[in-house]
Amino acid sequence: MTQQPRQSLQRNIRMSVKNAVKISLKTFATVGLLTALLPVTTILAQSTDTASDTAVPSPYPPGMPMTMPMSPSTELMNEAATITQQFVGTLLPTLQLAMAAGGPLNAIEVCAVEAPAIAQKLSADTGWDVRRVSLKARNSSIATPDFWEIMALNLFDQRQRSGEQGANINIAEVVAGEFRYMQAQPTAELCLTCHGTDIAEDVRSALLRHYPNDLATGYSAGQIRGAISLRKAMP
Ligand code: HEC
Repeated sequence: MTQQPRQSLQRNIRMSVKNAVKISLKTFATVGLLTALLPVTTILAQSTDTASDTAVPSPYPPGMPMTMPMSPSTELMNEAATITQQFVGTLLPTLQLAMAAGGPLNAIEVCAVEAPAIAQKLSADTGWDVRRVSLKARNSSIATPDFWEIMALNLFDQRQRSGEQGANINIAEVVAGEFRYMQAQPTAELCLTCHGTDIAEDVRSALLRHYPNDLATGYSAGQIRGAISLRKAMP
């Protein structure tokens, strides 16, 4: 037996081992890539099968990294719920008194000043950012929702349509380092004077004088008019 065939046999063996390693590395890489892509494709598949009229927009602005929602602490949730109750508990009697004293025209004047003032005072007193938002804002300068709020308000509408009482609908989430909380504001009979479908002419023109871009009409009792929205940086 000469040296020649033995060497070439060894070379052949070395080559086939090398090829086997190469192939298995390739396979690993492909499987790894597929595994990494799988969650993305699942999310994409899920997001496309929602009906267009109930589609919920992404709460995250384009380019913002998606973060896993963390379950917020009960302490912060209770604090937020208390502030929400204070808001309603201050504004509702003010509105009712103004209506009783001088009718809806007077109440519009009072609401236009008092509602933002209550939100500002609560923000200053508590260190939370407190405001009211709506998908159909009346005061668009302060009530226009951001991405997360739009997502929540759409969810609120869906929940109300599936039979939940507006007063029981709220949401809490940690988003991009902030604790966020929203409590739905359902429309009661009283609200329809200024937010309903059949608004008196003088009320309509008073509203338009104050809010030329008013979108907040056409509601019926029980629907979600908007929400009180709270946020606070996480410690
Ligand atoms: C007398 C008229 C009147 C009545 C009645 C009334 N509202 Fe309003 N509502 C207003 C006005 C005016 C504003 C805008 C206040 C401002 O400038 O912040 C407003 C704003 C709001 C907003 C903030 C979002 C936005 O669109 O600006 C919510 C939420 C809201 N109303 C809910 C209600 C609910 C719920 C009721 C019934 C309990 C109600 N309103 C009854 C006049 C009224």
